[in-house]
Amino acid sequence: MKRVSFAEFGDPDVLRLEGAEEPHAGPGQIRIAVRAAGVNPVDWRIREGQFQKVRPVVLPAGVGQDASGVVDEVGEGVEGVEVGDHVFGRGSSTYAEFAVLSAWARMPEGLTFEEAAGYPSVVETALRIIRQAGVQPGQTLLVSGASGGVGSTVLQIARDRGITVIGTAGAANQDYLRSLGALATTYGEGWVKRVQQLGHVDAALDLAGSGVIRELVELTGDPQKVISIADLDAPEFGVRFSGVTGNVPEALAEAVGLIVRGKLHIPVEKLYPLAEAAAAHIDSRAGHTRGRRVIVV
Ligand SMILES: NC(=O)c1ccc[n+]([C@@H]2O[C@H](COP(=O)([O-])OP(=O)(O)OC[C@H]3O[C@@H](n4cnc5c(N)ncnc54)[C@H](OP(=O)(O)O)[C@@H]3O)[C@@H](O)[C@H]2O)c1
Repeated sequence: MKRVSFAEFGDPDVLRLEGAEEPHAGPGQIRIAVRAAGVNPVDWRIREGQFQKVRPVVLPAGVGQDASGVVDEVGEGVEGVEVGDHVFGRGSSTYAEFAVLSAWARMPEGLTFEEAAGYPSVVETALRIIRQAGVQPGQTLLVSGASGGVGSTVLQIARDRGITVIGTAGAANQDYLRSLGALATTYGEGWVKRVQQLGHVDAALDLAGSGVIRELVELTGDPQKVISIADLDAPEFGVRFSGVTGNVPEALAEAVGLIVRGKLHIPVEKLYPLAEAAAAHIDSRAGHTRGRRVIVV
């Protein structure tokens, strides 16, 4: 089979589309014929070697953790899924013709493979950090970096739960944030004042890692009410950095419920063929993705 891999850490040009041994489903796993793979910032962070100290990767390594596709192997002990089912979920080396998933759900009717591949990681992250921020229905959540994959998901889940959201994004994404039910303003010079004019903030999420933790603590009045997923310096301000993946099967089940009720839709910013994974990484790293970028297999 073909898969995207890299044999050294570095720039996007270390990515190669090469022949590789097919992976097989172990106990508790399934294998899919991949139809699409979601591109997450963690994919290029791993390729750059950013996680070597905390989660070392052995080279050569595959790329990607999210995918959708057709089940073609069911591992020992797995129930409730059959060869031929259309699923989306999380696994490893998903930028490939075949990939093994360790968490999955059946794709809801009407969702395309391309769309489905964008959901798994962002939905798990969004559910986790909304819970950790402790924000309740009727309260207001500030989301810094609200138009990306995680932000788009947080906004829709919060709206469904009766939580008001104030989101910051670039000028081009103000109407997009409003379409997801949020109060919107731009980041950059004067943003704290603009947020204050929109309302009181009960809790805040830093999704962009743009060096705003101090301001988020000021706006909420309590470091315990701020969560960052992108700023490793957050603990210096007494703010929790959330980096441990939670319960993915539970998150996928909740995503299916939201999708079926018409409450969650993550737009696909752009599709890339497997051979253009490097371009997908360059575009994702530029930091202005609306929704998710997706590789089509
Ligand atoms: N710790 C964890 O568990 C975890 C999990 C998932 C993701 N992450 C990390 O969280 C970050 C966000 O992930 P993602 O998938 O949502 O990324 P993404 O889809 O690439 O979105 C990034 C967003 O950041 C916004 N942005 C860029 N510069 C900004 C600034 N100065 N202020 C505010 N917003 C700004 C962009 O908005 P505009 O286009 O409108 O400018 C863009 O929509 C990434 O760094 C990722 O590595 C961590």
